Amino acid sequence: MATESRKILVTSALPYANGPIHLGHMLEYIQTDIWVRFQNLRGNKCTYVCADDTHGTPIMLKAQQLGMSPEEMIAQVSKEHQADFADFHIAFDNYHSTHSDENRQWAQEVYRRLQEGGYIKTKVIEQLFDPEKEMFLPDRFVKGTCPKCDTEDQYGDNCENCGTTYSPVELKNPKSVLSGATPVLKESEHFFFDLPQFKEVLQQWTHSGALQSEMANKLNEWFEQGLQQWDISRDAPYFGFEIPGTDGKKFFYVWLDAPIGYMGAFQNLCERRDDLNFEDYWGQDSDAELYHFIGKDIIYFHSLFWPAMLHGANLRKPTNVFAHGYVTVNGAKMSKSRGTFIKARTYLDHLNPEYLRYYYAAKLNDRIDDLDLNLEDFAQRVNADMVGKLVNIASRTAGFIAKRFDGKLADGIDQPELLAEFQNAAETIANFYEGREYGKAIREIMALADKANAYIADAAPWQLAKQEGMEQKTQEVCSMGIHLFRILMIYLKPVLPEIAKETETFLGAELTWDSINTVLTGHTINPFKALIQRIEPAKIEAVVEATKADAEAEAALAGKAALQLEHNDELQKEPIADIISFDEFAKVDLRVARIVKAEHVKGANKLLQLTLDLGGETRNVFAGIKSAYQPEDLEGRLTVMVANLAPRKMKFGLSEGMVLAAGPGGEEIHILNPDSGAKPGQRIM
Ligand code: MSP
Ligand code: ZN
Repeated sequence: MATESRKILVTSALPYANGPIHLGHMLEYIQTDIWVRFQNLRGNKCTYVCADDTHGTPIMLKAQQLGMSPEEMIAQVSKEHQADFADFHIAFDNYHSTHSDENRQWAQEVYRRLQEGGYIKTKVIEQLFDPEKEMFLPDRFVKGTCPKCDTEDQYGDNCENCGTTYSPVELKNPKSVLSGATPVLKESEHFFFDLPQFKEVLQQWTHSGALQSEMANKLNEWFEQGLQQWDISRDAPYFGFEIPGTDGKKFFYVWLDAPIGYMGAFQNLCERRDDLNFEDYWGQDSDAELYHFIGKDIIYFHSLFWPAMLHGANLRKPTNVFAHGYVTVNGAKMSKSRGTFIKARTYLDHLNPEYLRYYYAAKLNDRIDDLDLNLEDFAQRVNADMVGKLVNIASRTAGFIAKRFDGKLADGIDQPELLAEFQNAAETIANFYEGREYGKAIREIMALADKANAYIADAAPWQLAKQEGMEQKTQEVCSMGIHLFRILMIYLKPVLPEIAKETETFLGAELTWDSINTVLTGHTINPFKALIQRIEPAKIEAVVEATKADAEAEAALAGKAALQLEHNDELQKEPIADIISFDEFAKVDLRVARIVKAEHVKGANKLLQLTLDLGGETRNVFAGIKSAYQPEDLEGRLTVMVANLAPRKMKFGLSEGMVLAAGPGGEEIHILNPDSGAKPGQRIM
């Protein structure tokens, strides 16, 4: 037992408020919750805060898409997130929002202090701007052709095909994801946080020796590459906090106010709790410990920007940042179509949350490795360990105590040495929890469970109970089973809080770390109820099926949304023409043609001269498409022409047909493209 109670503040990363919590997220919240519960069980004062991360372009646009205000959307998502967390027994002391008064005040205050310290610079930068939506485009909102390998339809930050990272400005043929418009470069003044000034502070922090080795290595790499200034402003329209003194034109980038959200959430809690004082935890001289649990994808933000910001604002730095890896399901990235992108709620509809808490705990360690949720292994492991080993100890012994001894445990201890072995494991197990080696803790606990089961199997109370004169022995053996079970449940209390609670009811005694060495001799217990059921494979199947169905419904909805977006007034502008007979239509001979040559026409400001190949013959056509196409973009393309239109003599020569196109004119002319595979000369019917 630690002699002095530690003061600890713990956070998990703040989930974005534009989507549901899934089982990938849950790894982090379960990992953190186990640690927090462990600390409190040991008598430390450990406070756990979190919040929704509510700002940024994706959230603004998602709300728009749903026809809601961002405030409405984040309120709804917050409710859903909190219900998911509560049902997984994540015991936050406070779950707040980054869109809160406390966070706004702290964001502005931190910014003010950074400015005062000379850590904020301004610079005019050029960025892609969507001329239709009238907004600057984040990298992920620009798509185009990879400048390196020419793969089409790649995001503005990196290519999924060749892995090259680049600036969206380098994309070929860039398009705004929002409007399809070609983005233009536009200048704007941005605010930068001068990270390079903190190089020494950060290196010192890194070399304090406490960081995970993988994280320290990563940081060293980043130091070697050289630290860059960090762009912390975004132009309106943006859902976030206005930067003071910018007239509503500039906002803090979401990643500036997100970690400050840890402070906002804690501040909000302090206002309700007399025993917590903000300054004690965040002041420069704080003697409290501060830990952030995060995923491997956000290490840069938490181990460079965040400690630097805190330092620059005269606040304390984190004691440590604990990163974990990513959850894969059945060995692959979570996927909607495979039914493995499982939402927390979908899981909860079919399965007990403590199964997952146990499974994750059993596989977690202190490193940044990915963790595979193999659904078959999951069922097998939970059934074997939780039902077959753990609960089995109680269910094989409790009945005799109730029926034969009126619920009273024996006054004597059958195997003091075995009991001592269970008690003496406390420090080893505690050290594993403390070091986030939950898998090792579970292995230790399950090894003890095996011993308990072997003891019961050997002593065979079901046979003793039938033997003459073995009353007391039967009671002592079954009581021994209960004593051992109680100790195991104390060790597992951080992982299985609900089962622990039911065990407390069953035992009529609280499970505390301090009571490990107490023995409930002569104590009366309550009737035993089954603490947990086996996982039926059908339940897992149901989760996967529901996830697939969900993904399909989502895709259908997205399709409909797109159809609605395309609803326009084209038919009003040009009503559909009078009905014609098929014979009349068949008179028009439409053919696939390849544009083999496209040239400007001297003296013509609307026309391009096209040479069309009909699979042997060529035709000369003057097309009024110059305002929309460059000749070099047309050459080689397939298109559709009216092949039997009477030739027309024009100022520049004879036009032998017509190319089909849609649109009112100007830049809005779209020539037809037959689907790939069509051959020049083929008739179109
Ligand atoms: N909003 C930011 C964090 C801001 S913290 C000041 C964010 N949000 S998130 O919703 O994308 O992710 C929240 C946490 O869940 C992150 O730590 C992230 O690494 C973690 N995970 C998201 N998907 C995950 C898996 N598939 N597996 C494990 N952790 C995952 O990032
Ligand atoms: Zn590429």
